[in-house]
Amino acid sequence: MSSFQIIIGSMLGGSEYVAEACEETLTSLGHHVELHFQPDFAQIPNENQTWLICTSTHGAGDYPDNIQEFVSDLKNTDQDLSSVKLLTIAIGDSNYDTFCYAGININKLLLSKGCVELSPLLTLDMSQDIDPEELAQAWLSQNQDHL
Ligand SMILES: Cc1cc2nc3c(=O)[nH]c(=O)nc-3n(C[C@H](O)[C@H](O)[C@H](O)COP(=O)(O)O)c2cc1C
Repeated sequence: MSSFQIIIGSMLGGSEYVAEACEETLTSLGHHVELHFQPDFAQIPNENQTWLICTSTHGAGDYPDNIQEFVSDLKNTDQDLSSVKLLTIAIGDSNYDTFCYAGININKLLLSKGCVELSPLLTLDMSQDIDPEELAQAWLSQNQDHL
């Protein structure tokens, strides 16, 4: 059993649904899961945790408002996050040139702080994917052997 911290970046709620679907799958696989709708970097456990980032992109490749402070604290920390295992789900719309930039950029930032990626990031295209929650759940299930 692993302990998951799901860190959500969302403006309109779509990423929250994806995060909740992930919670359901991870719980059914026997893991401990905590959801962070207003992530506070200082409050999120990191020792022997898996962080699942689930964020949309807004503006022109920008982070959703609710995760901007988390990203800023992350950029400024000198903490070594090598005990954090990482999964990222990047949600966006491929009509934008900046497709999924928030998820892609936070994933790079976390890797630069030492996080260990369990699987390459998943992108979900809200303009194409009919059931993003189901795709996220299938991705977790495919990766379940190394969660
Ligand atoms: C004003 C606005 C700007 C957006 N900018 C981007 C973008 O730069 N890149 C991208 O991939 N998606 C972009 N999107 C698409 C959103 O990421 C997508 O609609 C997503 O499902 C929103 O998730 P949320 O409901 O969790 O906020 C944008 C959407 C809006 C409304």
